[in-house]
Amino acid sequence: MIKNTITAIFKKAGITINWDKTYDIQVLNNKFYLKLFLFWTIALWESYVDWYWEVKKLDKFIYKVLKWWLVNTKTYELKHFWSSFLNKLRLITPLLKNPQSKKRAKNDVWYHYNLWNDLFEATLGKTMNYTCWYFKNAKTLDKAQKDKMDLVCQKLYLKPWMKVLDIGCWWWWLAKFMADNYKVKVVWITLSKNQYKYAKKYCKDSNVKIILQDYRDLKWKFDRITSIEMIEHVWPKNLNKFMNITNKCLKKDGLMLLQFDGKSQSINWNDAFIEKYLFPWTVTPSIKQIASSIEWFFSIVDLHDFTEDYHKTMIAWHKNFTKNWSKIKNNYDKRFFRLWEFYLLSCPATALAKTQHLRQIVFQKENSTFQYIREN
Ligand SMILES: C[S@@+](CC[C@H](N)C(=O)[O-])C[C@H]1O[C@@H](n2cnc3c(N)ncnc32)[C@H](O)[C@@H]1O
Repeated sequence: MIKNTITAIFKKAGITINWDKTYDIQVLNNKFYLKLFLFWTIALWESYVDWYWEVKKLDKFIYKVLKWWLVNTKTYELKHFWSSFLNKLRLITPLLKNPQSKKRAKNDVWYHYNLWNDLFEATLGKTMNYTCWYFKNAKTLDKAQKDKMDLVCQKLYLKPWMKVLDIGCWWWWLAKFMADNYKVKVVWITLSKNQYKYAKKYCKDSNVKIILQDYRDLKWKFDRITSIEMIEHVWPKNLNKFMNITNKCLKKDGLMLLQFDGKSQSINWNDAFIEKYLFPWTVTPSIKQIASSIEWFFSIVDLHDFTEDYHKTMIAWHKNFTKNWSKIKNNYDKRFFRLWEFYLLSCPATALAKTQHLRQIVFQKENSTFQYIREN
């Protein structure tokens, strides 16, 4: 009965179990059906990692599932109250504690960013930008990374000797790029000890100051602030605090640019699988969540959506990863390969299905006299 129910649900999403399309899954272990029936989303992704099923094009399969869920989730959840109830039990936790308090944020960052240097080197491109690249005028991956950094600098109208703050920098490239090409002074903060250690070494002779600290400890004043795909770690409850702190750190005519991965709906939790295995206690915020957190602090002067490039970036990372896997595979088990592959292919699927969007927003203070015009 359970097997038939699951098979019928997939059929509705246009997927035939054990059939021959590139997005049709082949079930290798019959425990799959019960696991899925009981725990739904997280079980579907976990059972991929555990080899309960196989598929030729994982991203196409996820895309079809997401598209179908987007339209049918509510009805499905009503019918399968218990499985969705079990999944949602974990949502009680944020009501009881602040999952991204200063103390907890350190642990969460450690979980993802302090691990696996060789893995990131194998996955990311030359400049190790661990965020969406910009492909508008780029034919090569290296140029797309450089163009993303340039886009940020141009939108911020950087001028020599300005003081720039980068919150949640990864490796050292954006900060060094700004300092070398736009002759600005950059303060770069992160919570990752690994990145701090590397950056210290590579930015020794540049105009970049590297600090290992939480954004809540910021005290100085800056002409410009950037934060590229870090706000996902802030947690909805703390967004207002983030805006308050950055507002205090920004000079009157300053600009702040945020790049982030966000949803269309204001949902206070992330996919259970991504949260458990990759990014604990993260939320990809909606425009509404961002907009309500900036009231009294900032106004929005520019909003740019380039979700299509998020798709291209993640596909490029997946290609790099599979190409370089043989060099690093002795450090990981096969289950890890599946986990990382799932991560790298589920993100482009969310971009195609438009369940996630990649956005850059430029803010200025409410009393700013700077006339902002975007030129690119
Ligand atoms: C996805 S990475 C950012 C990548 C980087 N901006 C880039 O473009 O490649 C997220 C970063 O946010 C930092 N981070 C997370 N929580 C933080 C916090 N509370 N304070 C400061 N940095 C934080 C992490 O250390 C990590 O470096």
